[in-house]
Amino acid sequence: MAVNGIPQALPTLPVHPDPETDAVIDSGLLHELAHAFGGPFHFLLPHRFDANLAAFRTALDEAGVDGRVCYAKKANKAAAWIERCAATGAGVDVASLGELREVLGHGVRGENIVVTGPAKNEELLRIAVLQGALTAVDSLDELDRLIALARTGAVRPARLLLRRLPPAQPHSRFGMDEAELDEALTRCVRAGDAVRMEGFSFHLSGYAVQPRADLAGHLVDLCLKARVLGLQADRISIGGGFAVDYAAADDWHAFLATQQPRHYHARKTFSAADFYPYHSPVAGADALRAVLAAVPDGDQGSLGSRLRETGTLLLMEPGRALLDRAGASVFRIQGVKDRDGYAILTVDGTSLSLSEQWFNSEYLPDPVLVTPAGRAGGTGVHPTCVGGATCLESDMLTWRKIPFPARPSAGDLLVYPNTAGYQMDSNESPFHDLPLPPKVVLETTEGRPRWRLDRRPAC
Ligand SMILES: Cc1ncc(COP(=O)(O)O)c(C=O)c1O
Repeated sequence: MAVNGIPQALPTLPVHPDPETDAVIDSGLLHELAHAFGGPFHFLLPHRFDANLAAFRTALDEAGVDGRVCYAKKANKAAAWIERCAATGAGVDVASLGELREVLGHGVRGENIVVTGPAKNEELLRIAVLQGALTAVDSLDELDRLIALARTGAVRPARLLLRRLPPAQPHSRFGMDEAELDEALTRCVRAGDAVRMEGFSFHLSGYAVQPRADLAGHLVDLCLKARVLGLQADRISIGGGFAVDYAAADDWHAFLATQQPRHYHARKTFSAADFYPYHSPVAGADALRAVLAAVPDGDQGSLGSRLRETGTLLLMEPGRALLDRAGASVFRIQGVKDRDGYAILTVDGTSLSLSEQWFNSEYLPDPVLVTPAGRAGGTGVHPTCVGGATCLESDMLTWRKIPFPARPSAGDLLVYPNTAGYQMDSNESPFHDLPLPPKVVLETTEGRPRWRLDRRPAC
């Protein structure tokens, strides 16, 4: 693109090299699948989920901390992840009755399920108690409903955590403040063996390490206080919020420094503060390591040593981080038109399959252009934005003018990398009667690379 006759570099955001996703792209399989499905689809790499889960468990082992990793199901609706949790004994964090049913239906034991979310409905609470799941109680009235259920039901006790309103995020609508927690403890004591009060929980917005260690330290204090009252209080959950590092630091900082409204279709503006932090120096299992090594406010030693010394089990609920590099989204180009020196693509799906616009933002990692003959190469610069197959102006998968190395053509594919964490399906709907993109699981069985649908037609 030229401004006053001077060519200006367009911002790009390449993801970290990922040989496995590259191998899938280069295998030719994606064009076959696009032909088979006749529409967009997502592919999933469950062994990546296994590796991410193993990394979290290794971080716990290294710190000598007794802990459980519970996958936050909200990050992706696929069955594949839940199947892996069931097979590996991992826990799952669910936040609705539908999620609880799904998880039980795929074989996760009730005792390994944590039920989070605000003001849970009666049926969700009832099944959680019946299945021996651990409920993170969000408010005093929810606690009363849970206690009442446990008193009248055939199965007890109701296992519960009390969720702390983060003092540093006082406007959060989740959790209870100090006075409410005091009252909750009194009610738990009064409830006797109808409940098993196992500890406290929180979930913090953002990805910072120290605030998590600080609040975890505070929750350990609360456990010690609750134990004096005769309650079990032997565990805390620090929720999710382990960052994913999509891109290299230099690339991310260059992107932020370069991008301007003229780099987007219709001069669309985004606030940089609304972008996901696509580079994080400490991410995934390393973020857990850092939280465990941090010294909570007012303590002498690390959070890890505090947990060990007090016999406190650590629960965590990573969503996005367990899905890092575990999937991608594929769209086929239906049409190309030119406009003011750039191309506007229409692909065969919608931006509902790339959910970042929920946050008044867009998914920034560069998609890969794949022609029937392979990945597009060349030294050209073809600025291109990407629209969805709907009649809405705002249905743009990418407002940004991506500088592809070749001119895209109908029939080429766009592969959006690393979309399994929150991008794929949070917003998907059959708008315009378009079918929901299927999910394809790529795995190696009996020594052969194979694909299957995430949900077989009978499931
Ligand atoms: C209670 C709770 N736990 C876990 C998570 C998962 O967070 P993340 O995917 O950032 O790890 C969330 C996300 O909203 C949450 O609300």
